[in-house]
Amino acid sequence: MPDPSPGFYDTNDLREAAKKRLPKGLFEFMDRGNEDEVAMRENRAVMERIKLVPRVLNDVKTRSIETTLFGKTHGMPVIVAPTGSAGLAWHEGEIALARAAKAHGIPFTLALGSMTKLERVAAEAGGTLWFQFYMWPERKLSHQVIARARAAGFEALVFTVDTPVAPGREYNLKNGMTIPFKFTARNTIDVLRHPRWLAGVWLRYMLTTGTPRYQNFPQETQTKITALPMGRSSNFCADITWDDVRELRKLWPGKLIVKGIQHAHDAVKAADCGADAVVISNHGGRVLDASPVPILTLPSVLDAVGGRITVIVDSGFSRGAHVVKALALGAHAVMLGRAPLHGVAAAGEAGALRALQIYRDEIDRVLGLIGCTRLNQLTREHVDMRGVFGG
Ligand SMILES: Cc1cc2nc3c(=O)[nH]c(=O)nc-3n(C[C@H](O)[C@H](O)[C@H](O)COP(=O)(O)O)c2cc1C
Repeated sequence: MPDPSPGFYDTNDLREAAKKRLPKGLFEFMDRGNEDEVAMRENRAVMERIKLVPRVLNDVKTRSIETTLFGKTHGMPVIVAPTGSAGLAWHEGEIALARAAKAHGIPFTLALGSMTKLERVAAEAGGTLWFQFYMWPERKLSHQVIARARAAGFEALVFTVDTPVAPGREYNLKNGMTIPFKFTARNTIDVLRHPRWLAGVWLRYMLTTGTPRYQNFPQETQTKITALPMGRSSNFCADITWDDVRELRKLWPGKLIVKGIQHAHDAVKAADCGADAVVISNHGGRVLDASPVPILTLPSVLDAVGGRITVIVDSGFSRGAHVVKALALGAHAVMLGRAPLHGVAAAGEAGALRALQIYRDEIDRVLGLIGCTRLNQLTREHVDMRGVFGG
């Protein structure tokens, strides 16, 4: 695949470009964690302390990083994670991300909190599409949205369960990034200092479809991002339980994925309720700052579910080597949140393509460097955890 956007050598280059292009409040909303950002730092620190152990003198001339998920072959073992703000990072950024995912032959997960209608993403991007949602307190509203995703041909439903109440993100309050969004002197100056974003994203929406809104919320709850939230539009649902998963299993004939699992017993419960997969995730350190590091929870989940369901992991995978570590520990695939989002914020579809190309190159290179030609040759023997646990 030709390099669509040279000059970005690693995902950090894309992050730096996104930081320049976006208003500070929006960049921090996309990039930061919550409270003291311990979870986010730990995700990264642990990833660095896990080592890969090369096995040498294997012929690694011909390599493949293709993988199979739910019986379908994909170009590489990563999935674009749902990120609610992609449509604010770039005009209709969700379509750009979905197209990039399709070009790389991997699934794209559309977040419920997107600015672009799910039907348009399906029609204009296509590819393997997954739909993420949070439950509304009024269940039938969620069920209506799910029916739309089904009609539009989404392959999987990703039920995010880690945010029953609103997380603590003080920086958003300091930056005036509240929901509903309010223009204040501070954030207006911030926006005016970023004319490329103002013209290319905000004004483009205003001149075409008007103030961005949560296009996938049910009609009754659809609000502009600047509008007052109505009681029914709140989608923090504090009373979700396993009954909801069982109910979804009845409603959704496609693949059902429970995202935000952090304990082996919960992964087993998800399997018992009929889920096809779980995503072990601490939401990129954005929800519970005291949460464990997902890649460390992975082995216990795999042991507990014993091959009954697909196990995906995310949070802190900023390099292809990190993906290889998770696969060697037994994960089936890794979800990527911030990296593709930074890519799309930096340069739209070209930036998203570049972000995914960086992972492709890095996974392929690391595979060769540790003496493997295929992902199914990776084993726990390739991973050295002594830097994490001692010994
Ligand atoms: C800006 C932003 C918005 C997000 N929005 C959602 C969302 O709407 N639903 C969801 O399940 N996860 C959401 N996430 C979490 C991601 O799906 C994913 O779990 C996380 O970003 C993975 O960590 P990483 O960013 O270190 O790759 C969001 C993450 C970010 C950074």
